[in-house]
Amino acid sequence: MRTITTNTELRDLYADIQATNTRIGFVPTMGALHDGHLSLLTRAKAENDLVVVSIFVNPTQFNDQKDLEKYPRTLTSDASKLAAAGCDVLYAPDVDEVYGGMMEKQAVDYGALTAILEGAKRPGHYDGVVQVVRRLFEIVLPNNAYFGKKDFQQVAIISEMVRREALPVNIVPCDLIRDEDGLALSSRNMLLSQESKRHALALVNTLRAMKDRYLEQSPEELEAWGRKQLKENPYVELEYLEVLDGRNFEQPKEWERFNSPMALVAAFVGGVRLIDNMEFIVDDEVKKTAKTAIFAL
Ligand code: PAF
Repeated sequence: MRTITTNTELRDLYADIQATNTRIGFVPTMGALHDGHLSLLTRAKAENDLVVVSIFVNPTQFNDQKDLEKYPRTLTSDASKLAAAGCDVLYAPDVDEVYGGMMEKQAVDYGALTAILEGAKRPGHYDGVVQVVRRLFEIVLPNNAYFGKKDFQQVAIISEMVRREALPVNIVPCDLIRDEDGLALSSRNMLLSQESKRHALALVNTLRAMKDRYLEQSPEELEAWGRKQLKENPYVELEYLEVLDGRNFEQPKEWERFNSPMALVAAFVGGVRLIDNMEFIVDDEVKKTAKTAIFAL
């Protein structure tokens, strides 16, 4: 694995390997790598000639300075994991290399997609995500870019950015990965104590119970039921729990009008902010011909 920190080194490497005929797979990350990231790398390796993983803790997507400071930084062990998993290039730039002094971000408005859930709770977060992913695409020039569906709304927004700006990159949404207990893998999990990890399972347990009960209640009733479970849990501080259509982020009143019903949740457990989600029906059952779809995951 080559570890590089500058854009010039990346250009030189591409020139050396005559990258024009090389399919480049890209896995953008903020480090603190776990098996979820490694599963993206494995898929990227299977579908491309060269795989680039970036590790860059992007300051512009943190709406809370304390959250940025607390974010785990584990570059040395990340690099070992990537090398062992067969990554070709680790791109680990600093802030100046990525932004060249132009860090000012623009507000992104993709309607409901950017307005609700994380968009509402973390003002400016997606402005920063869109800004950095667009910039990383300009630098890395990938054919395919891999994103985990744990950040479901993020993948939807990036797909929409690529569609609106006609960027020449294929977005590959990849399955959310859980640990053996069911906890959605996240870099933030390393900030949880063992006890908080157990308490955090309330999120996946509620989502699973909602999936089991869906169709027995209206979407609104199911959402209220799920919220009640988490609000009654003394270890969970619920930020949101919403039932919506994962194809267009609309919230119809009847199940018949959904293409891909799902629930998304965000909550603090043991002082750590966690997100999770669950799609209620498996992919091939989802209505493929949805007229209202604004993006396709
Ligand atoms: O999902 C993440 O880790 C980040 O939001 C991303 C896509 C690497 C952009 O900084």
